Amino acid sequence: MIENIDKIKATAIELISKALSTKELEEIRVNFLGKKGELTSVLKTLGSLSVEDRPKAGALVNEAKNSIEQILDETISNIKNKELNTLFLNEKIDITLPGRRGNKGSKHPLRKVLEEIEEIFLGLGFSIEEGPEIDTDFNTFKALNFQDDHPARDSQDTLYVNKDILFRTHTSPVQIRTMNKMHPEPVRIICPGRVYRRDAIDPTHSPQFHQVEGLIVDKDVQFSDLIGTLEIFAKKLFGETKKIRVRPSFFPFTEPSAEVDVTCIFCDGKGCGFCKHTGWLEVLGAGAVHPNVLRMSGYDPEIYTGFAFGMGLDRITALKYRVNDIRYFFENDIRFLKQFN
Ligand code: DAH
Repeated sequence: MIENIDKIKATAIELISKALSTKELEEIRVNFLGKKGELTSVLKTLGSLSVEDRPKAGALVNEAKNSIEQILDETISNIKNKELNTLFLNEKIDITLPGRRGNKGSKHPLRKVLEEIEEIFLGLGFSIEEGPEIDTDFNTFKALNFQDDHPARDSQDTLYVNKDILFRTHTSPVQIRTMNKMHPEPVRIICPGRVYRRDAIDPTHSPQFHQVEGLIVDKDVQFSDLIGTLEIFAKKLFGETKKIRVRPSFFPFTEPSAEVDVTCIFCDGKGCGFCKHTGWLEVLGAGAVHPNVLRMSGYDPEIYTGFAFGMGLDRITALKYRVNDIRYFFENDIRFLKQFN
């Protein structure tokens, strides 16, 4: 019996030393030490031994069991370590590999130029007002002194939701909304936003585009304040060498009204194909606020005067970045947008 125990122990130790995985070792544990394992069966036969031999044999079996268990545990922990090390080696991160670059977004050119315009006017004491893109006929036309038969009111030009509600064709209704909110306090605002017209799309037209409106209403505001303000604006946006030129024009909501030109940014005023050899580019409309407009929005034209201006953001951005087709601004072609980082 003693020989048998020694033999079992030796076999177990040999098998353990040859095992390659924790799985094999667990099988060995079951085969030798499990309920039906070889050593357990020896234990079961202890009863057949003489009373003197039993304790010795029992101690031997226990000793064999303990050493097999100990060797098994050590070997399992060694193999587990090895397995972990291989796993770490395989999953090692190569920190010398170059990283993958993410796609960095950039500001849309219209947004960039709008932010510049906003900065300039904020610096001049203006604040920013916004209004809804769908507005009333009253705010868009009537309160701005448009006659009932004015061609801009024609459904050929304006997108109507119904008789009284429309897609605003300009940002001027924000003048009305602000005056109605502010009177009798002075007003000094710019209003950027989207506007809509029933225009066919071509390099200089789009049914949806952007304007920035400006309005000052106060006591003692003069036309020269308008010119001074726009001159500062043109120099800051297009460069210190630029000048402005004011030509008479007509808008229902201003009197007198003017078209404002800036020195051609391509030839700096010398004359080129782009400015049709005039040296000037038209950039905005402006004027002194019409007394009817002031009156309709609660300001007494005997006390208050004002000036207003409106510019096309798409056109100004196209000029500033020398983009020859405003359709690029709406197509969201990454190759175009990436150039404005
Ligand atoms: N609302 C005009 C347009 O859409 C632009 C404009 C001209 C606005 C003169 C003004 C202004 O405030 O004074 O064509």
